[in-house]
Amino acid sequence: MLTDLRELIRYATLAANGHNTQPWKFAIRQDAVEIHPDYSRRLPVVDPENRELWISLGCALENLLVAARATGYSAEVTYPDGANVIRVRLAPDTPQAGPLFDAIPRRQTTRSVYDGRAVPSADLDRVQSVPLEPGVTLRFLVTPAEMETVLAYVNAGNLQQYADKAFVAELIHWLRFNKREAMTRLDGLYSRCSSNPEAPRWLGRMVVGGTKPQEQADADAKKLRSSSGAVVVASVTDDRAAWVRTGQVYERLALQMTALDIKSALLNQPIEVAALRGQFQSALGLGASLPQLLVRFGYASDLPRSLRRPVAQVLI
Ligand SMILES: Cc1cc2nc3c(=O)[nH]c(=O)nc-3n(C[C@H](O)[C@H](O)[C@H](O)COP(=O)(O)O)c2cc1C
Repeated sequence: MLTDLRELIRYATLAANGHNTQPWKFAIRQDAVEIHPDYSRRLPVVDPENRELWISLGCALENLLVAARATGYSAEVTYPDGANVIRVRLAPDTPQAGPLFDAIPRRQTTRSVYDGRAVPSADLDRVQSVPLEPGVTLRFLVTPAEMETVLAYVNAGNLQQYADKAFVAELIHWLRFNKREAMTRLDGLYSRCSSNPEAPRWLGRMVVGGTKPQEQADADAKKLRSSSGAVVVASVTDDRAAWVRTGQVYERLALQMTALDIKSALLNQPIEVAALRGQFQSALGLGASLPQLLVRFGYASDLPRSLRRPVAQVLI
C-alpha cells in the first residue's frame, strides 16, 4: 500500500529550517500535497523579506520529494509565483529507495567544533556532483586562502549581528534553554542541540544577551577553521521560486553529506547582513549569482536531534 500522505509530511517536517521555527503548513488535497508558508513564524529581524523562510519551505519540499519517490510516488512540483504555495502533485509509481531517503532522519545541523579532517577527494566529488536546480549553483571553498576569505565575512557578520539588540532579542525568543521549554514548544533552538548546557530562562537570557560580538566571532572562527571546507549556495534570481530551489539544493546537499557521514552547519551571517551580501558575492567571484546560504562541513560526533511539532499541528 502507498505510504500515507501524512507520513510524507512527517519527513518534510524533519528538514532544516531557520531558527527551527518550522514556518510551514501542509494541506492534503485529492492528488497533491501543498506546502504553505506560516508567516506567524517568520523572523522579521534576521529575515525581513522572508527569503530564508521560503528557503526553509524548499528544504521541506526536498524531503517530501525524496520520501515520495522512495515510497512509490512520482511527483510534479508547481513553484510559487503569483500563488503563495508550493504544490506537489503525486501519482503512484515504482518506489526508488536510496541513501538520501535513509539520511532524512539522520541529517542534522551540527554546530560543534569539527575534528579538522579533510573530506577525501572521492567523497568530495560525490558531494560536488549533487544535481542542481535551474538557476542554482554551488561554489566550494576548500583552500586555506578561500577559507580565510569566508572567515573575514563571517567575522564581520557576527560583529554586526551581535551588536544589534533586535537580532539578539529575536534569537533569545527562539532559544529553548532547557528541556521543559523545548518539550513544551517542540520548536526553536534547544541548547543541547548546539552542545550548550541546560539553564533556567533567566540565566540563558543573561548569558546570550551579554555575549560580546567579538566572543561570538571568535567562537565561529574556531568552528570554521575546524571544518574541512565551505560551500555557498547561490542563485541567479532573488525571488520565491529561486529561494525554494535553493532550499531544495541545500537539503539535497545536506542529505548527501549525511549519507557519507559528513557533518554540516550554516553560517549565514555574511548573507543575512544586507550590507555584506554584495561584498561577499564579489569577494568570492560569484558573478551575477547571489549568495543565499553559507555552509561549513567536516567531521564531528552527532549532537542530540532538534525537535519538531507533530504532523497534526502543521496540517491545514
Ligand atoms: C534558511 C536557513 C538558515 C539557517 N541559518 C542558520 C544559521 O545562520 N546558523 C545556524 O547555526 N543554523 C542555521 N540554520 C539551521 C537551522 O537552525 C536548523 O536547520 C534548525 O534549527 C533545525 O535543526 P536541524 O537542521 O538539526 O534539523 C538555518 C537553516 C535554514 C534552512
